[in-house]
Amino acid sequence: MSKVRVGVIGGGQRGKDAYAKYALEYPDDVEIVAVAEPNELKRKEFSKKHNIGVQYQFETWEDLLKQEKFCDAVIIATPDRMHFKPAKLSLKKGYHVLLEKPMSNDPHEVMELGKIAKQNKNIFMICHVLRYNPLFSEIKAIIENKEIGDLMSIQHNENIGYFHFAHSFVRGNWRNCDLSSPLILQKSCHDMDILLWLVGENCIKIASFGKLSYFHKENKPKGSGDRCIDCKVEKKCPYSALKLYYENIGEWPTTVVSDIQTMKEVKKSLKEGDYGRCVYNCDNNVVDHQSSILEFENGVTATFNLCAFTNNINRTLKIMGTKGEIRAVDSKNEIQVELFDTNEIKVINPKKVSGFHGGADKLIMKDFISSILSNKTETLTSASVSVQSHMMAFAAEESRLNNRIVELKEYYNQFY
Ligand SMILES: NC(=O)c1ccc[n+]([C@@H]2O[C@H](COP(=O)([O-])OP(=O)(O)OC[C@H]3O[C@@H](n4cnc5c(N)ncnc54)[C@H](O)[C@@H]3O)[C@@H](O)[C@H]2O)c1
Repeated sequence: MSKVRVGVIGGGQRGKDAYAKYALEYPDDVEIVAVAEPNELKRKEFSKKHNIGVQYQFETWEDLLKQEKFCDAVIIATPDRMHFKPAKLSLKKGYHVLLEKPMSNDPHEVMELGKIAKQNKNIFMICHVLRYNPLFSEIKAIIENKEIGDLMSIQHNENIGYFHFAHSFVRGNWRNCDLSSPLILQKSCHDMDILLWLVGENCIKIASFGKLSYFHKENKPKGSGDRCIDCKVEKKCPYSALKLYYENIGEWPTTVVSDIQTMKEVKKSLKEGDYGRCVYNCDNNVVDHQSSILEFENGVTATFNLCAFTNNINRTLKIMGTKGEIRAVDSKNEIQVELFDTNEIKVINPKKVSGFHGGADKLIMKDFISSILSNKTETLTSASVSVQSHMMAFAAEESRLNNRIVELKEYYNQFY
């Protein structure tokens, strides 16, 4: 095979911008030959961009996968609750699969995909893109080289950012775990995965605490409206939809609010759609802060904080070893290594790759395509590896809801 032919299932933000874009940059390696997308406008635009024939433009994943296998691989970037079935069927049909996280919001289904992955000969990768982010790869190398001695403990923070949280987890697609998945799975299966990867051993115990403390009706300010557009206190509100979306027309997150990026259409969406709602008056139920404690087989411990109430959107880490410590901020692309014997601070700025997630979206696509071309079977984010990080997130949620320390081995056994 000299070029990989790919069908994209779900032509939304991730399908279109994170992955299919790669084909336009590297047309010699990959060609997008089909799309399944129910939104007509998105489907047509996507097809035009990739020159997809009418017979390969499908409305749903079912329509695409009903066909005899007609290309080499599929990318599945549908909403969270629509991952398991298309992934299972695609693998059965013999496609190589790149599947967006989470694998499923049901632990039984995650375990089932894990079992299928073990028997499957094709590439089956999960979009745990952070493993491809040069900053995290560098941290992994520093730990493995024992520069900071033996790893003892990690503090990891996911700073979601107040407006990002309001957009995605109060007004948006991931606001309600009954419609998508719990925050720790949806947002932080990435972080569970990074912790697992950096420690390099199985997680054995997890405890977690957290609540939806702020974004609910009891905190609705006096005089506020149900929509920002007719709210008397909007100007003083940091979560104002008008401020957020009017100032970013043509860019994320406004591109999520309306298919047509004009002031008139965005205004209309804020008048009628989900994204114009007061943040204290939505149908959200996911937590706005959550803290977890983890223990790994080699005795390494970790704390993980997930929080809406931050100004920056980034991940910050402190990694402690017997001979030194690492501090890292992904948004600054900066790692500091401080060794105890010299007290010198070495600053590392890993080589930047253009694109979202520090270039990781591009690098995961590159690995997916090159693994297919070179007949590799295992990759950095093979589904068989990703099962554990998903199960850690489910276990954290179980701990939070039922106020107990969860032993991972025991927890797994329920789903075998
Ligand atoms: N890896 C990451 O870092 C990362 C980041 C953001 C989102 N995600 C995940 O990616 C997935 C997609 O997120 P998004 O932001 O692109 O959302 P999106 O809503 O922009 O895209 C999803 C697309 O799927 C389409 N769709 C709905 N039903 C369909 C069907 N039956 N058949 C085919 N397509 C269908 C929708 O119309 C939409 O265009 C989600 O699961 C999300 O959790 C991953």
